[in-house]
Amino acid sequence: MLEDECWIDLPMTDRPIPLTARRNGPLKGHIRVPGDKSISIRALILGSLAVGETRISGLLEGQDVLNTAQTLRMLGASLDRQGGGKWLVRGVGVCGFAEPKAALDFGNSGTGCRLMLGAVAGCPVTATFDGDASLRKRPMRRVLEPLERMGARTVNSTDGRLPLTLAGARDPMPIIFRPPVPSAQLKSAALLAGLSAPGETVVIEAEATRDHTEKMLSHFGADVRVEPDEPHGAGRRITLTGQPELVPAPIVVPADPSSAAFPLIAALLTPGSDLIIGGVMMNPLRTGLLTTLGEMGALVEQLEMRKEGGEDVADLRVRPGALRGVEVPAERAPSMIDEYPVLAVAAAFAEGTTVMRGLKELRVKESDRLAATADLLRANGVSAEIQGDDLVVHGKGRAAGGGMVTTHMDHRIAMAAVVLGIASDRPVQIDDGTFIATSFPGFVELMRSVGADLS
Ligand code: S3P
Repeated sequence: MLEDECWIDLPMTDRPIPLTARRNGPLKGHIRVPGDKSISIRALILGSLAVGETRISGLLEGQDVLNTAQTLRMLGASLDRQGGGKWLVRGVGVCGFAEPKAALDFGNSGTGCRLMLGAVAGCPVTATFDGDASLRKRPMRRVLEPLERMGARTVNSTDGRLPLTLAGARDPMPIIFRPPVPSAQLKSAALLAGLSAPGETVVIEAEATRDHTEKMLSHFGADVRVEPDEPHGAGRRITLTGQPELVPAPIVVPADPSSAAFPLIAALLTPGSDLIIGGVMMNPLRTGLLTTLGEMGALVEQLEMRKEGGEDVADLRVRPGALRGVEVPAERAPSMIDEYPVLAVAAAFAEGTTVMRGLKELRVKESDRLAATADLLRANGVSAEIQGDDLVVHGKGRAAGGGMVTTHMDHRIAMAAVVLGIASDRPVQIDDGTFIATSFPGFVELMRSVGADLS
């Protein structure tokens, strides 16, 4: 356990914590879900690379973020948890990391690990990166490739997987990088390494992915230009001028739309529900789920659209209603990449077939999420199949439930299974709820507080 203890209802332990979710009455109330994971991790990293004190409020105190905080301390930054999601970070400046005395352990977090590979790659230090059994299976070569072109060296690694040792570049070079897959993590790793390089680092993405790194770099005073990628148009060209002095600026973390998706869909599927989820981030590169649910006929009202911490946020009011099956285009995947497991649960309760196209990247998330999502549905009487990179769910307006879901160390599979259990005819059992604490501390208590039956 880290020196930081956080309030989590399901602590990270070595012992699996089984859960059972069963149908109960309507879900009602006004809740707030924890801070956005992507913004929280970036706030700690950029705060650590700035010169001076960065104050953060609303930080997600999930295990993924706490692990990243601990690695930044090991690299010489000072990060103080002040309670209630408030943190004070004292940064070391761009290129200011000290060599860590032990391996950096990112636990379950691909985002923490990949962004920190980028942050370390531009500094003249050598560090070993490691993680849990899930993270050790995930591909890192795609991140290392641009970092090696910038001058970093991978010293030890089996097959581009963790554990690996990275020797940061002594004289980092700016590059032009076209990520081979749409990935905000790849883009961000290259930009963070580009901070240390003289001149312009350019990332050209064929499809726009979440833009939190670019926005936060500007917020800290870096010179970042974002332009449409002409002549193709669909993507973006991001140009960062290296070696800035990052100037601390306060950060307010909005509520995570990927976490909000779970109570939101649980309420959509539970008769009589009326749930408000407050202050949810509405960044257009994160709202693909809301677009899709709208097409399915769901009633989700966006109330009080406003700005918080530089992002659009809204209170989401959710009431249940009939859903119909839809086709979700592959181009929408980057804006809802983490929401497919729970969307697939909604699709089971729709009338008709839902086809979710272009989900190759789901195979390399915390688990093979494409397979795990199809399995969680099939174990509970829902007809679902994988066709190439597409997931097809045959919705019948209900699910039998009664099955056991294997979560494969994947928080979003565990929470999607909880939502399935809340809406199914019979209870759903989940082998292990432990990993929910990586992104959504307090999930079980929050769901209970609005009327869910979880034991
Ligand atoms: C994230 C990007 C996404 C997402 C992950 C968080 C980020 O991954 O799945 O949970 O914060 O940049 P990819 O960029 O690899 O698709």
